[in-house]
Amino acid sequence: MNTESLFSPFRLKSLNIKNRIVMAPMTRSFSPSGVPTNDVAAYYRKRAEGEVGLILSEGTVINRISSSNDANVPHFYGAEALAGWQNVINNVHKAGGAMGPQIWHMGIMDNHASGWVPAQPFEGPSGVNRPGFNNGNTMTERDIADTIAAFGQAAADAKALGFDCVEIHGAHGYLIDQFFWEGTNLRTDGYGGQTLPQRSRFAIEVIKEVRRRVGDDFAVIIRLSQFKPSAYTNKLAANPQELEAWLNPLADAGVDIFHCSQRRFWEAEFEGSDLNFAGWAKKVTGKATITVGSVGLSGDFFGSFAGESSEVSSLDELLRRFDRGDFDLVGVGRPILADPNWVKKIHEGRNADLRNFTPEALRELVMD
Ligand SMILES: Cc1cc2nc3c(=O)[nH]c(=O)nc-3n(C[C@H](O)[C@H](O)[C@H](O)COP(=O)(O)O)c2cc1C
Repeated sequence: MNTESLFSPFRLKSLNIKNRIVMAPMTRSFSPSGVPTNDVAAYYRKRAEGEVGLILSEGTVINRISSSNDANVPHFYGAEALAGWQNVINNVHKAGGAMGPQIWHMGIMDNHASGWVPAQPFEGPSGVNRPGFNNGNTMTERDIADTIAAFGQAAADAKALGFDCVEIHGAHGYLIDQFFWEGTNLRTDGYGGQTLPQRSRFAIEVIKEVRRRVGDDFAVIIRLSQFKPSAYTNKLAANPQELEAWLNPLADAGVDIFHCSQRRFWEAEFEGSDLNFAGWAKKVTGKATITVGSVGLSGDFFGSFAGESSEVSSLDELLRRFDRGDFDLVGVGRPILADPNWVKKIHEGRNADLRNFTPEALRELVMD
């Protein structure tokens, strides 16, 4: 297995990274009251020392009272939390790494198992987070405008703290995705509509505001998924034409890189071609893309949440697609969560040292 092509540098605006491996954003819930600790900084520093090209932070929530359902998910607002993030990026840069925060609003959520709830009800396009499950408020136009401004503020703060890029979390059934999906966007005003391009208005306004706040030269990534945790087989875009009609307005609004979340990167997005989501996104927009989903592992991440283990698997199929030019960057989640030196081991061909993924890895933050 020749992995050399994954170890070529990548430059795009503010991003200047030494290889094509991206640590996928992974919620860890180790930031009490939303403040990233020294341990959080050490956790990310170890991944930079382990040669990860670009680290994307765990989802970190914007300044809205009900943007989170978990008291231990980090905030990306407030002096204390931002000082914590300053410590994180300083550590990552000292270790030669690059990093962007994944800025997040969860939208309508299930209540967290801890029993903690935010001081105001959850908010979303229509109060539902899956068809038939109402657990919050329908956002007013004022709520929407304030939320767009909060995304912009978080992006501006990311730049001011010295991060290398910012990622907008538009995937996995959270707020932005709740606007995209007809199952959760039941609005009849200008933020709803029969078509995906109509339901993209909220995302487009978030992207434009983020772009306005960070300027032209700062790299902006958006993460998208066709699937929802409540609907694994969902397709927002049913064919390449619909994908183009969805993504090009997002690109025009200011997206530099599409981070195309799949559970398994090798699955074809549409019939008639083996291109995956990232492959199609690059083809229809001409923008850089990140693929992700079970790279180097046999089982997917929902299986891990259900307590299943995954075994190390070959990178041959990934390399075939990468070398063909399907995508620019490769997101890797659980292998890098479980092993800070995963990238270094791949680079050095130490395949025998790679670890299987067991859910025990989720319990601790800083491990060797
Ligand atoms: C513990 C854990 C937490 C996650 N949290 C997030 C998150 O905060 N934001 C996000 O976009 N995806 C999140 N994901 C999904 C990962 O970013 C990634 O897409 C997924 O794990 C598939 O990659 P993998 O198969 O390499 O693990 C999470 C995954 C795991 C395992």
